[in-house]
Amino acid sequence: MEYSVAVAGATGAVGQEMLKVLEQREFPLKSLKLLASERSKGKVLTFRGESCPVEVLDSGSFRDIDIALFSAGSSISREYREAVVSSGAVMIDNSSAFRMDDEVPLVVPEVNPDDAAEHRGVIANPNCSTIIMVVPLFPLYTQIGIRRVHCCTYQAASGAGARVMQELKEETEAVLKGEEYTNTIIPFQYAFNLFPHNSEMGEDGYCEEERKMILETRKIFHNDNVLVNATCVRVPVLRAHSEAVNIEFERKTSVEEIYDILKQAPGVEIREDRDKNRWAMPADISGEYPVAVGRVRKDVSQDNTFDLWVVGDQLLKGAALNAIQIAELVAEKGISR
Ligand code: A2P
Repeated sequence: MEYSVAVAGATGAVGQEMLKVLEQREFPLKSLKLLASERSKGKVLTFRGESCPVEVLDSGSFRDIDIALFSAGSSISREYREAVVSSGAVMIDNSSAFRMDDEVPLVVPEVNPDDAAEHRGVIANPNCSTIIMVVPLFPLYTQIGIRRVHCCTYQAASGAGARVMQELKEETEAVLKGEEYTNTIIPFQYAFNLFPHNSEMGEDGYCEEERKMILETRKIFHNDNVLVNATCVRVPVLRAHSEAVNIEFERKTSVEEIYDILKQAPGVEIREDRDKNRWAMPADISGEYPVAVGRVRKDVSQDNTFDLWVVGDQLLKGAALNAIQIAELVAEKGISR
């Protein structure tokens, strides 16, 4: 069976990666429609060696579409949900618009693939930092049991979109030349700097990104008692997020057992060279599918507690790859509702 697929936000940082992943994984396509805003009118992208015009997204865009991949921001997803669903297509949404909606499965294929079958027209792709954390966390959770997790993130510019990646490059050049630079998207200096994630701050002192990691993990694991705490920081890296994850387990375990579990874990790769003091870095992992882990060590401050270093490509496993894996699940399970 082949599918007619639309990509809304095809010109964006994630949309571009979606096209590459569809190509690389040889997704069974009957047709592909590229959608973006008025700004992209007249643009032509290349897919499987052929020119593909970008069309302006509107409510008629989804006629004859089976799967609509969305990565154009939450408000666009909200605006077009009805148009997609009423056309009979399945929306796979990379935005945060519907992630906590009870009717919408929130899926990481290595963790809760069966949830995809419960969809009523929309399946949500989790937050990028959440996906990168839960891929290695889930097998540890099922096999050892987790009492509490604290995650500190070192997030790349890609999570804020293609225009922020461009702004970071331009600002870096300007700083090196000693020139003035006026940021237009990030409201303060980003090059040669870092900042606590600037998503909306709640009265409790948690920003939206941190809240997403906490709440989405519970939904994906189907367990409201999983205790997750997060501190999210944006660093001047172009793509690939890094995370320092501190995990308190339910029972006694060891560095060896944790490595054994992670070696078998789907979507995870151990990447480290202890002898050379060399661990996974965003530059190594950019463009790669697996979530890289290493540096497992016993936390000396507390029993049954260990640290883990995790790096994943935000644009791929954190977004486009996970979305296409969901599309593959939809294709395997059939798209009827
Ligand atoms: P465009 O390139 O035409 O602005 P990113 O997350 O990298 O910033 O990308 C956002 C994506 O969402 C781009 O493809 C962008 O298209 C698309 N987009 C933004 N606003 C709209 C809109 N109003 N209608 C359709 N697509 C939009």
